[in-house]
Amino acid sequence: MTLILGIETSCDETATAVVRDGRTVLSERVASQIDLHAKFGGVIPEVASRSHLEALFPLVDESLQEAGVTLGDLDALAVTTTPGLIGCLLVGLNAAKGLALASGVPILGVNHVHAHIYGALMEDLDARGVDAAEGIEWPLVSLVVSGGHTSLYESTAPDAHRLVGRTIDDAAGEAYDKVSALLGLGYPGGPVLDKLAAQGNPKAHDFPRSRPKVVTGGGKAGRFDFSFSGLKTAVLYGVRGQDGGRGKPLRKDAPPRPDVVPADVAASFQAAVVDVLAERLMEAADALGARGLVVCGGVAANSGLRARVTAEAEARGLPLFLPPMRLATDNAVMIAGLGHWLFAEGKTGDLATDVLARTD
Ligand code: KG4
Ligand code: ZN
Repeated sequence: MTLILGIETSCDETATAVVRDGRTVLSERVASQIDLHAKFGGVIPEVASRSHLEALFPLVDESLQEAGVTLGDLDALAVTTTPGLIGCLLVGLNAAKGLALASGVPILGVNHVHAHIYGALMEDLDARGVDAAEGIEWPLVSLVVSGGHTSLYESTAPDAHRLVGRTIDDAAGEAYDKVSALLGLGYPGGPVLDKLAAQGNPKAHDFPRSRPKVVTGGGKAGRFDFSFSGLKTAVLYGVRGQDGGRGKPLRKDAPPRPDVVPADVAASFQAAVVDVLAERLMEAADALGARGLVVCGGVAANSGLRARVTAEAEARGLPLFLPPMRLATDNAVMIAGLGHWLFAEGKTGDLATDVLARTD
């Protein structure tokens, strides 16, 4: 049996959790900073770091208490070390190092993106009472889709994930946030646009389903890569008009066209994003002989994406692992969960363990 405390501070959620055996959640806490950053329209790194510093230790105490364990009962402290905002990662890692020094419990540096993938499996594993070695048929093809990432991985074990595709420009969640800002709907954009899309006509605008150009022999893009910047520009033109009149460039602050129906823009934009994500996931799954699919990260909370990949997985007879809503966005359950496997493999860190802003 392993008992692991997870610590997550890579972006704008401070989160802690105690997890047994990589699948059973004994306690979980998330302090979201969304309200703090909303007025800026995005995450301000320094504000985020300071807020983690204030929130983290009370959350650690609450998590341990609720789980009914003490620091000394733990096998390890799993903490996100990559990727993320450097100052934010440092708050989590240094807190973990302090706790490790005080208790003698080892730390484990965890890759946040790999943890998103593993986190999508945990509820299913717990419900079946099996672990990821016996309960999952590998390989899985995993789509990680959030405000910072839109990537495809070939997953061959709980902590073995090979990058096979990624966005060459914006992440899908970032595109949601930018379109929401354009419509004056605030931050974060995903949940608002998702709701609004349900009331609109997805065929009202014919937005592009772009695919980066693959140049054989070492070009920029790979066959499973994504691009969302063309879609973002198309939405901008759809909302504000093609240009400033007579071919002049469009002013940044141009008012929306009077005939624009925000729900139609949201529905058409969502249809384009979902088409691209689902198509590329299925292409990769077919090409790599996937025996299961994972969709995770903040955008995995999207109702359109969930419905589409559920239908596609069913049609192929593949198991689909979708995290429950609370585990789709950033959390420490997934960090503690993946920590179980790192611990089993002896991949503990020490005081020299460092953070890394970008991984792939
Ligand atoms: O994984 P996450 O919490 O943080 C990052 O690592 O980025 O993802 C946050 C992102 C935001 O861009 C947010 O707009 C998006 O996930 N998001 C959604 C939905 N809920 C959150 N995007 C589309 N539909 C949603 N329902
Ligand atoms: Zn995340």
